[in-house]
Amino acid sequence: MNDRQHYQACFDLMQAVAAYRYESIHRHLEKFGKRESMVHLDVLVLTYHLARICRGSILEIGAFRGGATVAAAWGVRDAREAKKLITIEPGGSLRKHPLATRNILGSLKRNLARQGVAERVTIVEGRSFEPEVVAAVHGALGADQVGLLILDADANCKRDINCYGPKLMDGCWLIIDDYGGSADNSKVSATKTQVDELVNSGRLLPLGYYGFGTWVGRSQGIMLPRAR
Ligand SMILES: C[S@@+](CC[C@H](N)C(=O)[O-])C[C@H]1O[C@@H](n2cnc3c(N)ncnc32)[C@H](O)[C@@H]1O
Repeated sequence: MNDRQHYQACFDLMQAVAAYRYESIHRHLEKFGKRESMVHLDVLVLTYHLARICRGSILEIGAFRGGATVAAAWGVRDAREAKKLITIEPGGSLRKHPLATRNILGSLKRNLARQGVAERVTIVEGRSFEPEVVAAVHGALGADQVGLLILDADANCKRDINCYGPKLMDGCWLIIDDYGGSADNSKVSATKTQVDELVNSGRLLPLGYYGFGTWVGRSQGIMLPRAR
């Protein structure tokens, strides 16, 4: 991709996301996101859009109460072809936060059911790097490849890309949260360093920066783990 094509790809994505402001899905995402999501409305819209247009399956790491999961599930619902949506979440609790919950997995399952998308989402309970979780994701994917990877977990996106890299298709879309953000967000430094390294080594192509500090781009080449 030359500079002109790269600029055009960034511009097209911005324009596609902004166009949803005039559609009813924007209001639905706004209403749901306010109550249930940590990410900015623009990121929910971006997630909806990419889930709708991407080829292949969708893998999310870090669902929490299901804000972005529901956005992706609505994108799958409105897509032309059927696609799998798999999300990994270990659960637990979150205290002293506007979105506090004593049972993250319980809140996630309740939200998916209330929004009518429980059947569209496979929840894999556990941490992304645990061997049984990796095996469960591979089992759920079967022969399918991932065309959209959503990373919003514990700021180790390189580890997760290495874990699932062989299942990512060339040109896989990636949404990576915590690339930027407020000074008190401890995930930013590690995420930014890792994403910049992947960009500088030519494995990721950046296509934008949305919301509070979410990076979006695509993979380039086959995402095999790098030799140590
Ligand atoms: C910032 S929240 C996700 C917010 C969500 N995207 C939203 O729209 O509100 C991060 C979530 O990642 C989960 N998590 C942390 N480490 C993880 C890992 N290694 N694998 C999967 N999930 C993880 C946490 O339990 C937490 O629920």
